[in-house]
Amino acid sequence: MWRIPLADIDLGPEEEAAVLDVLHRRWLSMGEATAAFEADFAALVGATHALAVTNCTAALHLAGLALGWGPGDEVIVPSLTFVATANAVRYTGATPVFADIVGLNDFSLSADDVAARITPRTRAIVVVHYAGHAADMPALLALAERHGLDMVEDVAHGPGATLDGRALGTWGRVGCFSFFANKNMTTGEGGMLTTDDDGLAAQLRLLRSHGMTSLTWDRHKGHAWSYDVVAPGYNYRIDEIRAAIGRVQLGKLEIANKRRRLLDGLYRELLPAAAPALGLPYTATRGVPACHLRPVLLPEGADRVHFMEEMKRRGIQTSIHYPPVHGFSYYRGEGGGPVLPLTELVGAREVTLPLYPGMTTADVESVAAAVAESLAAALDGNHRPLVEPLATSGLMKTT
Ligand SMILES: Cc1ncc(COP(=O)(O)O)c(C=O)c1O
Repeated sequence: MWRIPLADIDLGPEEEAAVLDVLHRRWLSMGEATAAFEADFAALVGATHALAVTNCTAALHLAGLALGWGPGDEVIVPSLTFVATANAVRYTGATPVFADIVGLNDFSLSADDVAARITPRTRAIVVVHYAGHAADMPALLALAERHGLDMVEDVAHGPGATLDGRALGTWGRVGCFSFFANKNMTTGEGGMLTTDDDGLAAQLRLLRSHGMTSLTWDRHKGHAWSYDVVAPGYNYRIDEIRAAIGRVQLGKLEIANKRRRLLDGLYRELLPAAAPALGLPYTATRGVPACHLRPVLLPEGADRVHFMEEMKRRGIQTSIHYPPVHGFSYYRGEGGGPVLPLTELVGAREVTLPLYPGMTTADVESVAAAVAESLAAALDGNHRPLVEPLATSGLMKTT
């Protein structure tokens, strides 16, 4: 349907062979393929432990449970994220408290705004590395350490990205990855937890599988004959079919991410000339990004729906990342009714352009040309470039 879709995946004969191999071995959940996938993933990010799970939402839930979040606790999260980041905090009984982003170049959490929202109830910060670009981890970690808060990283957009030579997902106490169908590497549905903490890893392992002290796989291998249940755990296990696909995808990740960076660089070269009124975040970035998304910001006076319709007319799929979570019915009024001027501005003006390794440079040129035409059509002739609203959070009541 789309001439250029928003995202596309690279599945080929290697994934097919890996799936067939699992089927032939006739062991379908948490076996050799999962163990190999976890070992490879741990090696890639340089974490002591990697635990494969059903999806990133489950990973975030388990992270919160293993860190002991519960009713009465507050966990600071961005609002400019997929809703799962906040929902997972809710599952534990804790309250998500939304904080604003750094600015119009960097859509991840602002350490200053997080600082303004810390209360005696705050337990942790969940940072999202928006679009696969590292958040300001040195500043956020320093803040977390100063206040004795746990740091969890939502790395759904950033497998393979690094900051100061250290993989995203290894800066906090726990990293949570997604292998959803549109991510940089995919298993259809799937996720991964990473941690260097042995105790936390043991807790995560228990909670992933009903709170049981041994797995079907251990018993199959003759390592255990029985089990105890020591917590009301969940079934958040991955299956062997997905794990086998994930292992192949992981092998392609480095080259795929490199290609994403090249294509993103081309966008950054072409768009300022093609559409000077457009805001282009992440012109400067920290470390080596995974370039999961290419966001742009429409100038004030441009009608976003009109712009996206014009792109659609040209066969190009676009999206919005994200409608801010604190604006959804369920979350409206959370955390004392936050004011998040930058998040709201980005939420109102952001459009995501296609970006995936299978794009050709001609595709990127074609999108850039379509952006110029669509923006001209969507402008009311009276547009103004976007300017950052004055930071107000430091002056706000925070409880
Ligand atoms: C930032 C972020 N966090 C969490 C998730 C949830 O991931 P999953 O679909 O694997 O549960 C997503 C998925 O889209 C995401 O983009």
